[in-house]
Amino acid sequence: MDSFESITDFINSELRFQDEAGLLRSLFPLEGSQRGVVKTNGKPLVDFSSNDYLGIADHPALIEGAKKAMEKWGAGARASRLMSGDLEIHHSLESAIAILKGKEAGLLFGSGYLANTGIIPALCGRNDVIYSDRLNHASIVDGVLLSRARFFRFRHNDLNHLEDLLKSHRSQYRRALIVIESVYSMDGDLALVSEILELKGRYGAILMIDEAHATGVFGAKGEGIVSQAEAEAVDVILGTFGKAMGGYGAFVALSNQMRQFLLNRARTFIFSTALPPAIIGANLAAVKLLEEEPERRSRVCELASELRRALNEDMGLNTPSESQIVPVMVGDSRSALSLAESLRDAGFFVKAIRPPTVPESTARIRLSVTANHSLKDVRQLLEALSDGI
Ligand SMILES: Cc1ncc(COP(=O)(O)O)c(C=O)c1O
Repeated sequence: MDSFESITDFINSELRFQDEAGLLRSLFPLEGSQRGVVKTNGKPLVDFSSNDYLGIADHPALIEGAKKAMEKWGAGARASRLMSGDLEIHHSLESAIAILKGKEAGLLFGSGYLANTGIIPALCGRNDVIYSDRLNHASIVDGVLLSRARFFRFRHNDLNHLEDLLKSHRSQYRRALIVIESVYSMDGDLALVSEILELKGRYGAILMIDEAHATGVFGAKGEGIVSQAEAEAVDVILGTFGKAMGGYGAFVALSNQMRQFLLNRARTFIFSTALPPAIIGANLAAVKLLEEEPERRSRVCELASELRRALNEDMGLNTPSESQIVPVMVGDSRSALSLAESLRDAGFFVKAIRPPTVPESTARIRLSVTANHSLKDVRQLLEALSDGI
């Protein structure tokens, strides 16, 4: 028995290893977070790290929506949707999503992570093949692994590579799934949706697009990157409520037939408690705000465009971003941590993003612009960045 490694020794050595590589992660609870300003150690910092892109997480309409739904339906949903947890408000939210995205139907999931890890294994199994962009989010990667399908990761946004892989392998498998994001979560660049749609058609593939970071920010109505005209041809469009929509949970927009299939086959839908009424009330209010307060969307886009312009043109930093997610590439994890710290000293809350969230040697500061920011915030952040680099 003595020769076995103890769990304490194992954990100690793993944590030491992560620490030495500058990769240790820790939690620091905030003392407050309101209108884009967080409070930590008694100090207010302008938050450039949140995904609350429209700045509505503390909007009175969301809070009121949550309160009303909780008063009417209670704190919890009591069961999964297929048991007694299926409430009318879940269906109202699904209908609102279907209209927003231009699809026949919507289906809710507990979170984006649960949606990806439930849907991908429902669509593909051992005899199938999955083509996944190399920069896809961890929840997509985990969904692919859970499916047990053969999978290929194509070089990020490289359609020639994707087509080469389709040409070489597609015919050996029953079903093929192509899965991409529309705004990439760590690089902030955009997918080539119409070109991918063309490949999907030519090679008889299923197409799933994760619009977690596009929903609410892109599109005339906040529908995302996938236009209503393109939506018809995309089999599954995923979005989350925890980012631009200021709440929590996730949805997919799909055909009625696909909805019926997934609610029978996606294990993370079937075997998990329905989202609670309060969050559904908040999410419903958020969908309404997309229409009522479109200026939030234009503000984020204008501020992000100024931030990207200044980084590229004035500072020569070459960010890959085409969206409100604007990475400042650093490379080494320790240098990214110290840049984040110097920005915090200057009054900005930002996080260093390190492997395995991003590929080796591509540690970065991930700036995210929100409607809570002002042009002054962006200019001051740029100044602090040029002092810190
Ligand atoms: C592209 C993408 N998909 C899915 C998720 C997971 O969504 P959730 O936070 O709702 O689990 C994220 C979260 O960051 C993401 O970036």
